[in-house]
Amino acid sequence: MKKTVVELFAGVGGFRVGFNSVKLSKKGKTIEKPNFEFVWANQWEPSTKSQDAFDCYQKRFGQSRNHTNEDISKIDKKSIPNHSVLVGGFPCQDYSVARTLSNEKGIQGKKGVLWWQIYEILDVKRPPFVLLENVDRLLKSPSKQRGRDFGVMLRCLDDLGYAVEWRVINAADYGFAQRRRRVFIFAYHKSTNYYNQMIDNSSEDIIMKKGIFATEFRVYDNVKQFRAADIRPEIYKDLVDVSDKFESQFLSSGIMVEGIAFSANTEPITKKYKTLGQVLERNVAEKYYIKNHEKFEYLKGSKKIDRVSINGYKYVYSEGSMSYPDKLDLPARTMLTSESSVNRSTHVVKDLDTNRLRFITPIESERLNNFPDEWTNTGMTDKRRYFMMGNALVTGIPEKLGKRISEIIDLE
Ligand SMILES: C[S@@+](CC[C@H](N)C(=O)[O-])C[C@H]1O[C@@H](n2cnc3c(N)ncnc32)[C@H](O)[C@@H]1O
Repeated sequence: MKKTVVELFAGVGGFRVGFNSVKLSKKGKTIEKPNFEFVWANQWEPSTKSQDAFDCYQKRFGQSRNHTNEDISKIDKKSIPNHSVLVGGFPCQDYSVARTLSNEKGIQGKKGVLWWQIYEILDVKRPPFVLLENVDRLLKSPSKQRGRDFGVMLRCLDDLGYAVEWRVINAADYGFAQRRRRVFIFAYHKSTNYYNQMIDNSSEDIIMKKGIFATEFRVYDNVKQFRAADIRPEIYKDLVDVSDKFESQFLSSGIMVEGIAFSANTEPITKKYKTLGQVLERNVAEKYYIKNHEKFEYLKGSKKIDRVSINGYKYVYSEGSMSYPDKLDLPARTMLTSESSVNRSTHVVKDLDTNRLRFITPIESERLNNFPDEWTNTGMTDKRRYFMMGNALVTGIPEKLGKRISEIIDLE
């Protein structure tokens, strides 16, 4: 089996950077290990005319007609080349932790519909392996029918003949400099040797010892609490039935084979994290220093605010204080697309040279995601560079998973 990859929702190429351990030379030349051949990529940003992420992808990986800048829903899926691994961090706005629950629309939401694009590609191309990433809330979404969205996805994959492993991974638990919790979903088709090896193991063994996540992101094997969910056609006749009726709690680590899902809340065997202080630059330009201290003190402080809900109820919204400035001896908090705007979630650090407070720099935001320095310095504004990093992932995670997938393919 060839190690060919299609990268969907490619953004600035986080999966590819990880899979091929990509670096930038001092002159800005991309140095890519040929671990996997990326045969097709798609990236299109619906909210802006400029296509900064796609431009960055092209600049870093070269102009190619196999890099497409079109709405994925407009693409004829048959035109996508055959591949062994489909990867992608699909848009998460509908489930995003950056939004309040009342805005959450789940899988039928505007952007959530993009799941059906992945489904269509899998249906037409049937790649043996699939690796997806999303916010961890996906497992619980939507709030009114817990677990429905992920249940629908599992059933889609089951209908197409895949087994699925998933794991919520907090990058900081495994040696990275950012607390970023994301669910990674690995699906493998019945036709693979890997599938046949895996199904001989118990669900507990797959989750804690043998599965792709257990080998790359180790956990203690002392889990007591398991949950099961049955989404077989015997119980839910079709996808609409799952969508209408399914409700369950999916825990952070799981496996689904033949429509039966088991999950557990596993505990990571942590590695020493990198700290925010370790990624800071020296001699930082004046433009990154903060001018509106009072505003930040207010935003980061504890407060109680009178509010009125959509239904007209008055209530008191309260939030506690958070570290201001951010602690340099801990990993960073999760970067959002709004990073470095005047916002409670924006990081504020005490500069190492001047002891004055400042935003993180675009390079520091890249380091928090394990991208090479200056990766997004391809002609876009600083604001867009932070946005790209808020959307991207910690590339060290696909790097580790890619190594394991490569070994799995070697045995096919
Ligand atoms: C969560 S981000 C993935 C980021 C990526 N993993 C990276 O490393 O940069 C989702 C991406 O999907 C893109 N996108 C949203 N809607 C799309 C559509 N209809 N067709 C293609 N891409 C889309 C967004 O522009 C965004 O870059």
